[in-house]
Amino acid sequence: MGLLPNRRELSALAYQVGPGRYYQPAYRFIAADIGVERGSVLDVGTGPGWVAIHLAAGRPEIDAVGIDLCDTMLGYAESNKKGRLNVTFRKMDATRIVYPERTFELAVAVQSAHHWRDPAAVFAEVHRVLVEGGKFYVYEANPAAEVPEGWIARQGPFPPDRLVRRQWAKYGMDDARLAELRRVAEASPFGPDVVEEPHGFYRRLVCTR
Ligand SMILES: C[S@@+](CC[C@H](N)C(=O)[O-])C[C@H]1O[C@@H](n2cnc3c(N)ncnc32)[C@H](O)[C@@H]1O
Repeated sequence: MGLLPNRRELSALAYQVGPGRYYQPAYRFIAADIGVERGSVLDVGTGPGWVAIHLAAGRPEIDAVGIDLCDTMLGYAESNKKGRLNVTFRKMDATRIVYPERTFELAVAVQSAHHWRDPAAVFAEVHRVLVEGGKFYVYEANPAAEVPEGWIARQGPFPPDRLVRRQWAKYGMDDARLAELRRVAEASPFGPDVVEEPHGFYRRLVCTR
């Protein structure tokens, strides 16, 4: 960071102290629901790293790798992992993953897909690095969802539902955007059997190699 933070650094800081804190229960529910106990897992667009960290926490046989384009986010991820040895963060574009074919048992992307400039390339790359039968879970917040009980950590009244839902309206995916993402996934090497399902305030696409 220079003397004055730039826009990307500021938005990473805002995410680290905002959603990165109040989505903690959501990260835990995602990790518990995915329920993987061993093997290599890839967190695409890991941001402050929480999905990778929760997938790896208490599961020594998991090797979690979080990738992101943003140095500032990766710096937060590194400090959030508090020295856990089974979590690694690397600067990497999801359209050019450096790992060999069939490296990962599972991949997940939470609230990242709405940033992807080339989603077709991301699906193709994640497909390449998954083992046969491996799943790619793509989560996006549903702007039409109510705030489910227990999914947001609050300090007193903060954050109020209206702020959380405003974030989903701004950064989530409405029906049309999710349908478009699903079309891209179905046209990718994953093929047409993409499953769409609600999970908490998210909707997720589950793509199976
Ligand atoms: C809103 S953050 C979400 C972070 C985290 N998954 C979470 O749920 O807390 C989205 C992240 O996706 C990353 N991202 C966007 N496009 C990417 C790409 N092509 N490859 C890797 N990371 C990407 C951004 O840098 C950003 O950190």
